[in-house]
Amino acid sequence: MEERKGFGTNFGFLMAAVGSAVGLGNIWGFPNKMGASGGFTFLVIYLVLAALCGFIVMLGELALGRKTGKGAVGAYKVLSKKFKWLGWLGILSAFLILGFYCALGGYCIKYMVLNVGNVFGAGFGNNGLASGDVFGNLLTNQLESVIYGLIFVLLTMIIVMGGIGGGIEKFCSIGMPCLFFMLVIIIIRACTLPDAVNGLKYMFVPGWAVENGVIDKAPNLLTVLSTAGGQMFFSLSLGMGAMVTYGSYLEKKQNLEKNALIIVICDTIIALMAGLAVMPARFALDPNGPIGGPKLLFITMQNVFNSMGTVGYIFGIIFYLLVVLAAISSSISLLEVIVAHFCDKAREKGKGDKRKVYSIIAAVGSGLLCVLVCLDGLGSNGIAPFDILGIEANGWSDCWLDFFDCISEGVLMPLGALLMCICIGWEIGPKVVDEECCLEGNSFKSKGLFNICVKVITPLIMVFILLGQVDGFFGLGLFQ
Ligand code: PFF
Repeated sequence: MEERKGFGTNFGFLMAAVGSAVGLGNIWGFPNKMGASGGFTFLVIYLVLAALCGFIVMLGELALGRKTGKGAVGAYKVLSKKFKWLGWLGILSAFLILGFYCALGGYCIKYMVLNVGNVFGAGFGNNGLASGDVFGNLLTNQLESVIYGLIFVLLTMIIVMGGIGGGIEKFCSIGMPCLFFMLVIIIIRACTLPDAVNGLKYMFVPGWAVENGVIDKAPNLLTVLSTAGGQMFFSLSLGMGAMVTYGSYLEKKQNLEKNALIIVICDTIIALMAGLAVMPARFALDPNGPIGGPKLLFITMQNVFNSMGTVGYIFGIIFYLLVVLAAISSSISLLEVIVAHFCDKAREKGKGDKRKVYSIIAAVGSGLLCVLVCLDGLGSNGIAPFDILGIEANGWSDCWLDFFDCISEGVLMPLGALLMCICIGWEIGPKVVDEECCLEGNSFKSKGLFNICVKVITPLIMVFILLGQVDGFFGLGLFQ
């Protein structure tokens, strides 16, 4: 059988795993949710959940992957008869998330180009239009959106085709440090603007957002808990096999526990840093603009760059490049979840791994979903689920992006993480993780915490998060 090649170094693995975790969720999700959900209070709750739930699921997934040396589907199949289908939930989630992630990644590439146009006063810049109109035009220009979306799919595919060591590791080992460096540049610029302090107050001071009319009323504690939980596991790429897959490519001598901890800490630090880059700029230069989601990225931030003159466009190029890097390092992990499974199967049959063929097939599948999201233009073009079904627009039916997000982030991912805990805690037993952590002289310092969490605490929190996600996406009003 052909050898299954993995990460060359632990640094390469870490950059790839942190790259998967750091994505659009960190940039437009975390800062806004933190500000709207009680600032510092949200942060404390987020950190507790990250320790009791994020770290536990991360370690569990990495251990299952490395133990079996297989992608998500193969790993569960080997470990348990009852849970052998669980990996397929991950493959489905990966396709759905890729559908909207690539469309948004395409918009980011378009905005990089747009800012180049702005620097040179070229026709492909803003052309004097307001940012809201530029974004509106992009959404309704279906051909342009599709082309940029497919460019993003193509880039993702090319990296995954290169394999783990040659494609993903190489890209992330260079891309992630660059992302960090660019983020620092944007933070320095944003935090030295006049009135930038309001952005910091929005993010950190409890109650500031309500007192200053940014939001109507503070959410209740249950809502804050479920918002923090939902954000935490999407941001850490958990519950859908991405970390099982990356873990399967890690050498046995590497310390799993330490790696899991580093990934969780880095993702949280970058989410906070993204807030320091985005919120001060928003409050200083576009205080009435949108504050979260795609509009924060493509309207508010572009307004910020427009208001700085030519130098602003250079910051715009840097900013959108860093978002493209964050998005690609996440989308390659999503595509790898799908590709790894089929490569494993081909290898078992002695046919080589056929990585290139499967990368193309998986990219075509996710590219089709991406085309749908682009044609829909966030619900602008009359083909959103609510248009087709003839119902009133709400959370899940607003647009195809929300629909895919709602099934994956809202249901499949929290369900996947919950079932993984039950599988480790009650079906195969936490000893599997203990053995995997203690290989080659490593110790498992948090064994006691892990065992109690994976059996009882984490599943209970996951049930709560699952309810919170379903409630939020479908507007059931459970946590009012
Ligand atoms: N963690 C990514 C983000 O915060 O944007 C999203 C994500 C990437 C989820 C990869 C799942 C995944 F497998």
